[in-house]
Amino acid sequence: MQALYEGKAKRLWATDDAQVLRMEFKNDATAFNGEKKAQFENKGRLNNTISTLIYGYLERCGVPTHFVKQLDDTNVLVKKVEIVMVEVIIRNYSAGSFCKRTGLEEGKKFSQPIIEYSLKSDELGDPLVNDDYIRELGLATIAEMQFLRTSALKVNEILSDLFAKAGLRLIDFKLEFGRLASDPSTIVLADEISPDGCRLWDLATGEKMDKDRFRRDLGGVMEAYEEVLKRLQEQP
Ligand code: TMP
Ligand code: ASP
Repeated sequence: MQALYEGKAKRLWATDDAQVLRMEFKNDATAFNGEKKAQFENKGRLNNTISTLIYGYLERCGVPTHFVKQLDDTNVLVKKVEIVMVEVIIRNYSAGSFCKRTGLEEGKKFSQPIIEYSLKSDELGDPLVNDDYIRELGLATIAEMQFLRTSALKVNEILSDLFAKAGLRLIDFKLEFGRLASDPSTIVLADEISPDGCRLWDLATGEKMDKDRFRRDLGGVMEAYEEVLKRLQEQP
């Protein structure tokens, strides 16, 4: 069988149900638009388990997502969607490309969350865009962008709180959304939510507990993911 789609960290497979896909988490890690590559034993399992836990929590908080159910360590069933080709990034503290772009030091708390958008294009290196670009490129309507913004802020509140209880500071993260194949007027949260696409710093020590450990060669990448999972599992 041929995967319907293969990305840097996941594969999508068809199932018996035309509206449902199987999403498989790989052990591959990439950074800097795929320039840096490695494999980590257990990464697929850890990200799938963390993402499943977070999606379940968000669903219970009333956030509509693509999540159906976890199948096994590295596979999850998700509703089929057409991905909105815009990555939504929410920043609570300065870090990463924000610091590179502005010269601000890392770890400064913003008075309000910053939302930014980038075009989902490996070819172009995910360039930063704004609402006007998105409208004119026909990637989403004005109403859809309003929905994305409101949802992203809601997810930020829920996850900042959840991670804080787990002793982690949610510095920034990336979300993706999709239009349901069964009803394209309905947009749901899609893709994964894991330490691959979030910056998480230990509340007590400031230690980085996310993919920056790989990006910056800090070592202990899977140990950090394992610790994030353990702390999330300890939450009621
Ligand atoms: P950045 O500071 O590099 O722009 O990243 C902001 C957040 O978005 C960070 O938590 C990592 C996440 N992210 C992805 O999930 N995928 C990407 O391709 C990039 C560039 C960032
Ligand atoms: N996800 C992107 C990549 O795999 C960039 C990153 O996360 O640093 O290249």
